[in-house]
Amino acid sequence: MKKLIVAFALVSAFASCTKDNEYDLSQKNNNTCDTTAVSYANTVANIMANNCNSCHSGANPSGGVVTSTYAGIGNIYDVVLLGVIKHSSGYSPMPSNAPKLSDCDINKIQAWINQGRLNN
Ligand code: HEC
Repeated sequence: MKKLIVAFALVSAFASCTKDNEYDLSQKNNNTCDTTAVSYANTVANIMANNCNSCHSGANPSGGVVTSTYAGIGNIYDVVLLGVIKHSSGYSPMPSNAPKLSDCDINKIQAWINQGRLNN
């Protein structure tokens, strides 16, 4: 009888382990927002081009803020960049007069900052 109980314990431990792995995998597959190895070149430039550069580039960028180059974004403090895209109180909500960026785009910019604002 003792052996049977041990065997049962082992089987159920293994079963729950397998279940955990399946759960992890499905979470990964459902999460299409990849925030690993985010750089200006591979991710942020694209987000800026789609949402910000229409106002923040060229000879007379809005608010004197340039988002169309790595150097231009480099002039925006972390807290300001995150404040404007997260629509935090005290910051001008960006993009101006348009819906907030997707959670995925915001997470990517947050990750880019956390990872040290890499250029490439
Ligand atoms: C439709 C035009 C428009 C778009 C699109 C736009 N902005 Fe702006 N942005 C402005 C204007 C105008 C100002 C200056 C006035 C103000 O602060 O509201 C500004 C100001 C800013 C500032 C300075 C805010 C401060 O408090 O000093 C930052 C940073 C900024 N924008 C970032 C962005 C980012 C990042 C995006 C894209 C996610 C974006 N903007 C999209 C028009 C725009």
